[in-house]
Amino acid sequence: MRVIKPLIAALGLSISVTALADTQVSIDTTHAGPVINKNIYGQFAEHLGRGIYEGIWVGPKSKIPNTKGWRNDVVGALKELQVPLVRWPGGCFADEYHWRDGIGPRDKRPVKVNTNWGGVEEDNAVGTHEFFDLAEMLGAETYVNGNLGTGTAQEMAEWLEYMTAEGKSTLAELRRKNGRDKPFRVHYFAVGNEAWGCGGNMTPEYYTNLYKQYAAFLKTPENNRPKLIASGGHTEDTSWAEHLTASVKPSYSLRMDAVSFHYYTLPTGEWGVKGAATGFPEKEWISTIKQTLRMDGFIIANKKVMDKNDPEKKVGFYVDEWGTWFDVEKGENPGFLYQQNSLRDAIVAALNFNIFHKHADRVHMTNIAQMVNVLQAMILTDKDKMILTPTYHAYKMYVPFQDATALPLELKDVPEYKLGDVSVPAVSATAARAKDGKIYLALVNANPNNAETVAFNLAGIKVNGVSGQVLTAAKMDAHNTFAAPEAIKPVAYSAKAENGKLNLTLPAKAIVVVAVE
Ligand code: AHR
Repeated sequence: MRVIKPLIAALGLSISVTALADTQVSIDTTHAGPVINKNIYGQFAEHLGRGIYEGIWVGPKSKIPNTKGWRNDVVGALKELQVPLVRWPGGCFADEYHWRDGIGPRDKRPVKVNTNWGGVEEDNAVGTHEFFDLAEMLGAETYVNGNLGTGTAQEMAEWLEYMTAEGKSTLAELRRKNGRDKPFRVHYFAVGNEAWGCGGNMTPEYYTNLYKQYAAFLKTPENNRPKLIASGGHTEDTSWAEHLTASVKPSYSLRMDAVSFHYYTLPTGEWGVKGAATGFPEKEWISTIKQTLRMDGFIIANKKVMDKNDPEKKVGFYVDEWGTWFDVEKGENPGFLYQQNSLRDAIVAALNFNIFHKHADRVHMTNIAQMVNVLQAMILTDKDKMILTPTYHAYKMYVPFQDATALPLELKDVPEYKLGDVSVPAVSATAARAKDGKIYLALVNANPNNAETVAFNLAGIKVNGVSGQVLTAAKMDAHNTFAAPEAIKPVAYSAKAENGKLNLTLPAKAIVVVAVE
């Protein structure tokens, strides 16, 4: 088709170019796939750099307008994303976090060293009560990550009791003394983080035994039982999912609702020199796409071992850390992981959403790293200023997919986008019936140079057209700055069907999300 289209144009023939679309997408609207759990759009806020302090938390005495210490501008923007879930307090930080440091009068809380992230002072101003204030303001579910690395089973069990106990136990009364009468609602609780690395350099076998021990003591009232998450593997390592699902068998004293998984997209694939957030060559555009698409294979491999050990799919596979990780920006503290965010990041986000939808039967939660000012953030702040990143816009465009029902979809004749000896599929697509009853389509054109045409076959419905939004820009690294906060943002996109046939043109390097009319 690539050869035929220019030929037709050169010959001046009157055949519509869109009638000769490259990519064919067939969607069966009469059959329902799995529900795309809204928590696939979950967020992550760690005590890291300016992710919490300054980024969202400024304290109740700040001149920056805030509610209970949380910035009104940032919280307002996050509410627009309908953030379904927030994971806190880490990451690596979680395995050195002692919850008692973060309760009681703020001026009496101990000051610690944040050994993982820049060695800065951690004054514990944000603790359990503050986190739940934020979650309640956002209307988000809560994911608390427990400390396995440097804590004890007793400390972990007592934190859960403090948060969830209803009666007059000493810990419930302590919570009341600290201002919270009713228990907090803990939706998810993780036993450690990255046990293979910063969480304690463990083997899957050693961690699995510890998981079983700790999980036995994580007791809460029946109506406030968090889903328990075991710390799993990363990149191509399936041994964690394998070992955990083979060894942890549910009983009256043992539950495991999910195994976590982490994978970060590095343009070069190398931790030493990862690649820059902006000003990168096309070589690093395509390598980033290639690296991020590996997520599909990692999920497939982990699902394979989980399907063997847990054929009823009772245990979820939660990708609770993912996103881009670039070289540190000039002049920034290397321990703060602050990076700019461009159109390329938005494309990475959308490609991953499409992958997660495909695996929605097992992937019920993901958490991009991280919500504000850290790695692939939604929002960047500078004192009282705030900008929305292209990734923010991708999340907002995909809101209709939260809790939507995936529709079976088949892609054919997808052109390759090639540069040198690297090639990736140019087009990625997903479709779902949303809670508002409408069918939504989301498409990504990863080719930064050419528009792509897509022909749809939507079995079971009559299509008049589509309308929604497109996110694209002239440059691969288009991004917003505090001087130009709206350099890149979505604009309206619509198309009419011709003779019942829907053909869409996707601009180069673009995300299109539309509702079918
Ligand atoms: O998101 C930053 C860090 O990356 C997290 O703390 C850790 O879990 C991972 O290695």
